Amino acid sequence: MTGTFNLPPVVRTVADLRKQVAAWKREGLKVGLVPTMGALHNGHLELVRSVLKTADRVIASVFVNPIQFGPNEDLDAYPRMEAQDREKLASVGAHLLYVPTVSEMYPNGFASKVDVSGVSEGLCGGSRPGHFSGVATVVTKFLLQAAPDVAAFGEKDYQQLQVIKRLVQDLDIPVEIKGVPIVREEDGLALSSRNGYLSTEQRGIAPALYKVLQSTSTAIAQGTPVSDALAAGEQDLLNAGFDAVDYLELRCASSLVPMEAFDRPSCILVAARLGTTRLIDNLTFAP
Ligand code: PAF
Repeated sequence: MTGTFNLPPVVRTVADLRKQVAAWKREGLKVGLVPTMGALHNGHLELVRSVLKTADRVIASVFVNPIQFGPNEDLDAYPRMEAQDREKLASVGAHLLYVPTVSEMYPNGFASKVDVSGVSEGLCGGSRPGHFSGVATVVTKFLLQAAPDVAAFGEKDYQQLQVIKRLVQDLDIPVEIKGVPIVREEDGLALSSRNGYLSTEQRGIAPALYKVLQSTSTAIAQGTPVSDALAAGEQDLLNAGFDAVDYLELRCASSLVPMEAFDRPSCILVAARLGTTRLIDNLTFAP
């Protein structure tokens, strides 16, 4: 990427972030927020492009949030590449990069958390205990710190998006939450910062995740009993070379309650492992 774009200024404190947002609001500008953990790919850039359609100014945050990682997860290994991320954000016209430190977000004595019941339960909430509490807490903080008019999140993290919509509604946070469709590679693999962990062999297997979502949704739409279609899909993933399937489930698209019959707008969600890398994906469809 060349340096032909204006790099967005970087702020690292809540005070500096608020100062900039207040100045924009005094000018009557609409402010958008794109929270990320960095290692940006085209999926993240699509979030920025999407917010730019309705907001005059876009803030992207980059913060690898320690409290959403479990003890045996990839917090230390998670890629950190601020300079490259800043250039990518410049290329799509983001106006400000917010990179708080861990101590800025969680100073000594920090003792609060946001727990969202219902939508946080099961799926990734089941296989990653505490994960959604960490996400809900940090996103609530970002929304209070930046006070954006609109904030965008990828539909790839479908359960996360429902958790965030729920907390914004429950806590009366005045922000529009925009879900942005999944960006995929040509072979169907959903873009993810974790794809970079895959070996060449694993990368060859990974697109089976989306193929199985497609075949399972087709089978369900054609009348195969839900439990049979999901069992076949899980077996197909193992046959394709996945080492383990954390879950493959059919849920109501809005409340995420488990569904035994396909009788309303639905989402099939999957998490499966290739070695130590855990990939997730989903597909929404309706009767
Ligand atoms: O989706 C992510 O990258 C993170 O979970 C988020 C929303 C930025 C919170 O840390």
